[in-house]
Amino acid sequence: PEAILVSELANRMAERVADVVKSLMQMGMMVTQNQTIDADTAELIIEEFGHKVTRVSDSDVEDVIKEIEDKEEDLKSRPPVITIMGHVDHGKTSILDAIRNARVVAGEAGGITQHIGAYQVKTESGTVLSFLDTPGHAAFTSMRSRGAQVTDIVILVVAADDSVMPQTIEAINHAKAANVPMIVAINKCDKPAADPMKVRAELLQHEVIVEAMSGEVQDVEVSAHTGQGLEELLEAIALQAEILELKANPARAAQGAVIEAQLDVGRGPVATVLVQTGTLRQGDIFVVGEQYGKVRALINDKGERVEEAGPSVPVEVLGLNGTPEAGDVLNVTETDAQAREIAEYREQAAKDKRAAAGAATTLEQLMQKA
Ligand code: GTP
Ligand code: MG
Repeated sequence: PEAILVSELANRMAERVADVVKSLMQMGMMVTQNQTIDADTAELIIEEFGHKVTRVSDSDVEDVIKEIEDKEEDLKSRPPVITIMGHVDHGKTSILDAIRNARVVAGEAGGITQHIGAYQVKTESGTVLSFLDTPGHAAFTSMRSRGAQVTDIVILVVAADDSVMPQTIEAINHAKAANVPMIVAINKCDKPAADPMKVRAELLQHEVIVEAMSGEVQDVEVSAHTGQGLEELLEAIALQAEILELKANPARAAQGAVIEAQLDVGRGPVATVLVQTGTLRQGDIFVVGEQYGKVRALINDKGERVEEAGPSVPVEVLGLNGTPEAGDVLNVTETDAQAREIAEYREQAAKDKRAAAGAATTLEQLMQKA
């Protein structure tokens, strides 16, 4: 950080605040413990007290959360993460709901209530699938711009009575740009006006060649209303996942991506995190974007408390010091100090960036006026 509270500096050196304030006064600086001093002054004080100065830099952050090269034998297969995309009103939410409801175990009271913006289901053949219930475009644009690529497979929903529309094309472009395989769900096949062949023909014009047109992209005719084809869709996903051979090392420090986050009145900041590698456990210390914390509780998609969450598992995380943003990356760190320093470093870097951007526009405005 480029500035630090006097009290915080004393705290970190494990020195008395009064002594630090006194020392600053001797240097000619009249500050109270609640004021901040710049990094250079802080450095002088630290040396004055006989401590070692360590400033956090980009490379320090990278060192702490560096990519671990997993050994082949540590890699275990993980469930695929699926995002649903498509044109407005083509039935994305309906399909997600229908899949979830059909898969809710009989007798699970109120099981259809969704707790978090992601859930897991098991296909009849036993494959576990993780669905992200975020607007597909957000999952791609904001998450990818923050460096979190979370999706393994895209389900492209196209209504059979409306065919390919502008957002269908946009979705195709997103999936292609991210190099994520697609499965086409031709929805609303229960409607009399449904024309699945027209959908296939139009997709062809956008270089999406489905299996029914002798291509490689799986296509399934479904109806979110009648449930037609949904089991087939799940099996198509399972097959695609098998081809991808998705793997992660559950034995390492967890890394995940924030799917959504909010400040909850009763529980404080809460983030839904999709664990991407490693295993997140209760008690783990972490940094997530510009926030940090210690996992106080983990809650799964069914609203149950769990001790841990492995790769591809979505969980609600409690115990954050602030609310992160969707797309922020969570990393478990070894120490509390590391997590806090990285968070503060990022926060400061973001502030500096905003300040620089602000200064640039002011300068520009001045130039324009001149
Ligand atoms: P946005 O989130 O607004 O982009 O829409 P969406 O893609 O999530 O569509 P949604 O699931 O909200 O469905 C839009 C409308 O289509 C609703 O009125 C649904 O009831 C209807 N609908 C969805 N799936 C089907 C289907 O399989 N058959 C019929 N007949 N109607 C459907
Ligand atoms: Mg919707």
